Amino acid sequence: MKATAIAPSNIAFVKYWGKADEKLRLPLNSSISMNLSAAFTTTTVEFQKGLSRDDTTIVGGAFDESECARVSKQMDVIRTHLGVKEFAKVVTQNSFPKSAGAASSASGFAALVMAAAKASEKVVSEKELSMLARIGSGSACRSIPDGFVEWKKGEKSEESYAFSLYPHEYWDLRDILVIVDSDRKKISTSAGMELVRTSPFLQARLDSVEVSLTNVRQALKNKDFELLGVTMEAEAINMHSVMMTQVPPIFYWNSVTMEIIRSVHEWRVDGVEVYFTIDAGPNVHLICEGKNEKRVLEKLNDVVGVKKSIINSPACGAHEAQDHLF
Ligand code: PMV
Repeated sequence: MKATAIAPSNIAFVKYWGKADEKLRLPLNSSISMNLSAAFTTTTVEFQKGLSRDDTTIVGGAFDESECARVSKQMDVIRTHLGVKEFAKVVTQNSFPKSAGAASSASGFAALVMAAAKASEKVVSEKELSMLARIGSGSACRSIPDGFVEWKKGEKSEESYAFSLYPHEYWDLRDILVIVDSDRKKISTSAGMELVRTSPFLQARLDSVEVSLTNVRQALKNKDFELLGVTMEAEAINMHSVMMTQVPPIFYWNSVTMEIIRSVHEWRVDGVEVYFTIDAGPNVHLICEGKNEKRVLEKLNDVVGVKKSIINSPACGAHEAQDHLF
């Protein structure tokens, strides 16, 4: 059977940076995120008799050898879990160009896992889908459930999965993803995270992350935007401090990233309630409430060096779709 799934990318308010188990991608800490409406992946999977390997293509682009190998490795994990023997034809498409700098591994692996599970015609729970997606790319496990999501770190594979804290309609937030550099990131998250223990600040991060998790849970519960913003901004700076103090150090920010960070503080002084967070790259996510979107976009207009912005609302999790890609 042929099946298609759509999965969103997500932005973490409390970040994941560092693994307790490399192979299983068990994280050093739990994390909390929001699914993104404008950055998503659509994937069609069909297990076919007669294929001697997985046949993987991306619409409007090309997978390099290492990307094909990573998809096949994940397909092996899925086949073992579901008891499927055949190789598969896999076609995938991102809503954003790969070069736009938006994260594609989270949406990509979540869509792949859901499409493969549906194509296998087996009954697979949301928890299992999340666990399987985690093995492909850690943050992908958070793209399976709806809306605002927590990834419980767990001590073993079956305990490390994500679940929805609140549905996407719960809170009308925005994530304005500001693209300042559309090149592919120079150091992948997998490579960067392997060095996390070389940072003398890692322990300090892990000691403080429980408080951040408690604050974000409380901010979501009470729709306390200031607490959410203050915590998420500090969290992003905290994670980047670890990155910058690893050996060798990783500097993901560029001068426009820094200019936006500086501006966001000024905009708040001017009464515009907006906070930033940044993943493993130079692009900045501006988080505000829906009612403030227009004012933030006006302010952003004055920043020199912005290539493009992508406006996201909270989105539902991975789901099946009827329009196949082949
Ligand atoms: O799952 P990965 O390998 O894409 O790692 C994600 C790491 C960050 O985006 C930097 C943080 C996060 O929690 O999303």
